[in-house]
Amino acid sequence: MSEFNRRHFLMTAGLAAHSAFAQTASQRVRTAVIGTGNRGSYLLQGVLEHPEAKVTAVCDIKPDRLDKAATLAARDNPKALRDWRQVLERSDVEAVYIATPPHLHAEMAIAALKAGKHVYCEKPIGITPASVRDLVKAARSTNKVFQAGQQMRSYRQIGEAIRKIREGAIGDILMVKAQRHQGADLPHDGPSGDWYFDVKKSGGYLIEMSVHNLDVCNWVIGSHPVKASGFGGIALYKNDPPGRTIFDHGSITFEYANGIKMSFTQNVFHPRGLPAGGQYVYVYGSKGAVDLLGGTTFYPLDSKGEPKELAPKQEEPRHAHITAFYSAILKGTPSPADITVGATAALTAILGHEAMSKGRVVTWSELGVEL
Ligand SMILES: NC(=O)c1ccc[n+]([C@@H]2O[C@H](COP(=O)([O-])OP(=O)(O)OC[C@H]3O[C@@H](n4cnc5c(N)ncnc54)[C@H](O)[C@@H]3O)[C@@H](O)[C@H]2O)c1
Repeated sequence: MSEFNRRHFLMTAGLAAHSAFAQTASQRVRTAVIGTGNRGSYLLQGVLEHPEAKVTAVCDIKPDRLDKAATLAARDNPKALRDWRQVLERSDVEAVYIATPPHLHAEMAIAALKAGKHVYCEKPIGITPASVRDLVKAARSTNKVFQAGQQMRSYRQIGEAIRKIREGAIGDILMVKAQRHQGADLPHDGPSGDWYFDVKKSGGYLIEMSVHNLDVCNWVIGSHPVKASGFGGIALYKNDPPGRTIFDHGSITFEYANGIKMSFTQNVFHPRGLPAGGQYVYVYGSKGAVDLLGGTTFYPLDSKGEPKELAPKQEEPRHAHITAFYSAILKGTPSPADITVGATAALTAILGHEAMSKGRVVTWSELGVEL
């Protein structure tokens, strides 16, 4: 096996052994959602649509959010709880979704795994190296399913394009250029405003949002970066909202063990009309290049060659990532976003954030997490 394929294999082999503890398919998995805000409500809806799931508890510290969730899930008559630890004590909860602000994810996920629950934990699974390390340890010490909310791993078109790239469709990968630019900041007085702009709670834009895009870069490269350098800052939204500690732009270069360079930029002032769209993952190979987020058209280097689709455009199934979670629990299929995927994505974002914050080259080994 080549070094490239060996790394890919190591990253995707993950928890294939889950089949050993799959539940029988006739059971409905008794499920709780902790944190029923914007994302938690969306996940709750997905759980309700899943034929093999039943909502037995919902949990939020905000009474209005909790009431809304209990109403949404009224069909299943769930317990409505304000204390997440009480959710984990319940014997009628087998699986939990964690959709609270990022700084709480690792602590809640570790406690849930220790309580014997299957865990679907929103991204980023942790915002510090220590929290990711502790969660990796907890996930690997149990036979319960752990899935990160890195749902792009369940996008069939991207998965299919990456399979073609592995088969040599674009030649050897030479370089990746990716960005996550948005036309605006998150609303300052919106529901997430009480945590998002505090770097100690969200981790910042790169860790909280770009973690999706960085995960796709890791996925296609089949590895994780070994070092990063970069710069970031607050250019437009100075002290806006007051006390803001997260950057509004940044530029980072990552280097992977196989020598591939990945250049990543982010900002929240990208006008819609600009010709280059706000988000892309350009993968440059020795035969040509493809944008994994832009329809997967392959553009050959040879100017005589015609552009062609690497993977057909297709309707992505609704809530595919939620289906994957229940499939891992009930059928033992490997999760597409297991602890290795979730931890690698979070650590890549943390690496980039540290490089920008420290203004120097930061190495993967400095993070001190064995994967
Ligand atoms: N996978 C995705 O594409 C995606 C999309 C959006 C958000 N997210 C992630 O989901 C998480 C939540 O984001 P959001 O936009 O829903 O934020 P939000 O502020 O709308 O929701 C968070 C909820 O958690 C609740 N909460 C806070 N502390 C709690 C505690 N101790 N116990 C119980 N509940 C608590 C809050 O009251 C709030 O209702 C974040 O990690 C975010 O990154 C993921």
